[in-house]
Amino acid sequence: MDAPTIRSICCIGAGYVGGPTMAVVADRCPHIQVTVVDLNEERIGAWNSADLSLLPIYEPGLDEVVGRARGRNLHFTTSVEGAIATADMVFISVNTPTKTHGVGAGQASDLKWIEASARMLAKAATGHTIVVEKSTLPVRTAQAVKSILEAGPAGKSFAVLSNPEFLAEGSAIRDLENPDRVLIGGESQEAIEALAGIYGHWVAPEKILRTNLWSSELSKLTANAFLAQRISSINSIAALCEATGADVREVANAIGADSRIGPKFLTAGPGFGGSCFQKDILNLVYLCRYYGLEDVASYWEQVVTLNTWQQHRISRLMVNRLFGTISGKRIAVLGFAFKADTNDTRESPAIQVCLDLLEEGACLAIVDPKVREGQISIDLGKPAGQGEGNWQLVDSVEAAAEGADALVLLTEWQQFAQINWPAVAALMRQPAWLFDSRAKADGAAARAAGLNVWTLGEG
Ligand code: NAD
Ligand code: UGA
Repeated sequence: MDAPTIRSICCIGAGYVGGPTMAVVADRCPHIQVTVVDLNEERIGAWNSADLSLLPIYEPGLDEVVGRARGRNLHFTTSVEGAIATADMVFISVNTPTKTHGVGAGQASDLKWIEASARMLAKAATGHTIVVEKSTLPVRTAQAVKSILEAGPAGKSFAVLSNPEFLAEGSAIRDLENPDRVLIGGESQEAIEALAGIYGHWVAPEKILRTNLWSSELSKLTANAFLAQRISSINSIAALCEATGADVREVANAIGADSRIGPKFLTAGPGFGGSCFQKDILNLVYLCRYYGLEDVASYWEQVVTLNTWQQHRISRLMVNRLFGTISGKRIAVLGFAFKADTNDTRESPAIQVCLDLLEEGACLAIVDPKVREGQISIDLGKPAGQGEGNWQLVDSVEAAAEGADALVLLTEWQQFAQINWPAVAALMRQPAWLFDSRAKADGAAARAAGLNVWTLGEG
């Protein structure tokens, strides 16, 4: 049988994955109508805003892609059931956070949004529908999705595929337009070829990998675990470099030149953040325990343990260098997003470092080009305020540095590489420190301006 022709796609979930992914599909396939649905009215409203700078997420290049396709064959709506009913193919791109209570709390994925999507699909779909798992899921979730779909009203049929997303935030459009690979897992060859045909409009055939459902689901968790493991590995070596006089950037360069190791993902820093690495490893750990593989579970758990240790290590070290107390001292925090070029703060290492510093009584002046005050209030669990143990958001490094005893650089925004150190140092209370956890600032210039400088991984 030939692969069915796909004329209409619906994507449930207009988040960091659903929005950009569908924008690129619509851009590259003008003959397909693409509708992104979400229950969150505010988010859908932002996707529809006339001013493209007000889209709900910030990604370089996203505004141009949305600007080209929106209104032509890309639509954003809260009419979930209507969009499902007319779709030949439905992507599920909803959130799958770590469970906060009940069995598996703190490790297993909370699949309630996946289940709700499957139930909506079972009810609202018409005819034959290809269902694509785009969210990151525990291996064998497709079985549960299939059971729910099959238990729905008669007269409909479904094929379930796994098509995990490998984009990274900040480079989402580049990653989607030129992926290393596209992974499609499934049982129905026609459904697999229908999805491969969509990607085939812009992805080379040899980059489209086909596997069984379970390999596809597990490959996503494994890819994130391997990437995060490299970061914890290099961060562990950074601490040893500081103790021994080695330099972690030189070590990373030397080991990365070995083609078997490779140079990517060897940048030491304050620990990995982002919505997925921690949650996906914890999910892997939970799955290993579920299948009785305790030693395998402990092996992967260490990647997260080391990451948390790294965040606390930075705040402890700062207190130490600032004469053992930071109570009432002003500290400038440079960057709050979990990495540069995104407004996302989920699991940002800056959150833990700031919480530790607030606990010690510091007055934080935070500067970040994209993160809004409301988000920081949620992350730090209290509104902006003045004085000991409080934080404020300011709009420049100079404003943050005014009267500060230290600056701590936590996100590698390009603008932090171009600080006018003599001007900034003159604003600070001496002796003053720069703690650079990303090796992004011009440390030599900061030193020349009279600051004490600590750079992560520099012995
Ligand atoms: P997100 O929280 O930004 O977006 C999910 C959206 O789904 C939300 O807007 C929510 O309102 C909506 N939603 C939930 N249930 C719904 C329902 N029943 N009907 C309609 N809308 C519903 O999440 P995200 O970052 O886009 O991640 C989505 C999935 O993709 C997760 O499984 C994540 O692990 C995975 N992933 C994320 C990234 C990333 O960079 N963020 C990369 C690869 C994979
Ligand atoms: C990561 C993966 O890179 C994507 O392939 C995956 O699709 C995604 O998770 C997901 O499943 O959500 P993302 O979290 O957006 O993407 O960003 P990364 O660039 O991977 O960075 C994650 C964290 O690791 C950041 O805090 C970053 O600063 C840190 N990092 C990254 C380092 O500390 N060192 C490095 O060498 C690389």
